[in-house]
Amino acid sequence: MNVHDLPTPALVIDRDLLHHNLRVMSAARPGAALRPHVKAHKCTALAAEQARGGHSSFTCATTREVLGMATAGLGDDLLLANEVVHPDLLGALAAAQDTARITLAVDSPATVEAAARAGLREVLVDVEVGLPRCGCRVEDAGRIADLARARGMEVRGVMGYEGHLMMDEDRAHQAAEVQLCVDRLLRAYHDVGGEVVSAGGTGTYQFHDRVSEVQAGSYALMDSDYARLGLPFEQACWVLGTVVSTNGQWAVADVGLKALAMDHGNPTIDAGTGGGSGGGGGDVWFFSDEHVTFAPRAAFPIVGERIRIVPAHIDPTMAKHEVAWVVRGDEVLEQWAVDLRGW
Ligand SMILES: Cc1ncc(COP(=O)(O)O)c(C=O)c1O
Repeated sequence: MNVHDLPTPALVIDRDLLHHNLRVMSAARPGAALRPHVKAHKCTALAAEQARGGHSSFTCATTREVLGMATAGLGDDLLLANEVVHPDLLGALAAAQDTARITLAVDSPATVEAAARAGLREVLVDVEVGLPRCGCRVEDAGRIADLARARGMEVRGVMGYEGHLMMDEDRAHQAAEVQLCVDRLLRAYHDVGGEVVSAGGTGTYQFHDRVSEVQAGSYALMDSDYARLGLPFEQACWVLGTVVSTNGQWAVADVGLKALAMDHGNPTIDAGTGGGSGGGGGDVWFFSDEHVTFAPRAAFPIVGERIRIVPAHIDPTMAKHEVAWVVRGDEVLEQWAVDLRGW
């Protein structure tokens, strides 16, 4: 199939650019030094590519991601880097331990108790290092680890996600702040023990020589927000749209906010082509449910032309699509299910 023939909106992944990104990250953080985060792509076929690159441990954000990875045979070492308290979800995780190694984040006596009651075998203490989200205080980490051990669970170590620093464009400032977060995480680790010190993401992976693993995800496909940091990764994913209306003043394509995440600002219309036409790019005026209205920068497109829209935030954009089309140039090579969607 040719990319021109895809019904739109279509989520497209460029295989060569994806592989470039996977290679660059694997060279920087080989094997177990990287625990790729599957929340960024929600796709077991893409995770399998990461596994072929030497990474057999993965980070997950939801129970669904853990169960899907286990079913796909990618369950060597799955970290659910989030707190879970619902007994049904915990029960499903516990049952999956027969086929996968599962480690759950805990950050309170209540989450330890819930995990123990459900029969989870391994946990990791989630430490707050500056992002006001999950994670215990540094001074509570040892006590939480002791509680977990007293309930018969293995404590594998600590994690601390410095999400508040991920998009800092002042890279020297970012590097210095990351070290302060790692200081906090290592203080907690001193009281917790284990073999895992897990942190970081695409924006900070270059500053993590004191942790055992980095949890980066977006690097594989990238988005326009991360592009601002000048990282050595290429934009490997976009949403293909079709111009459905044009009047000489503006043009409208069939890709709206139901096909693109908007939380990191407007996606951009790429100057590259969407498969042989629609080149030149455009300035976005606004998105509505199923439309983008834009001012073309070069020649006015005709109805039926294709445009490429680069997501501003890759993770929630992936979650809006059931399939990704893997292409090389204009050739569609295969179709990947975005099979880790949902909770
Ligand atoms: C717990 C956790 N670890 C790591 C990441 C890093 O992901 P990315 O590399 O996509 O920024 C995230 C992203 O939100 C996260 O929530």
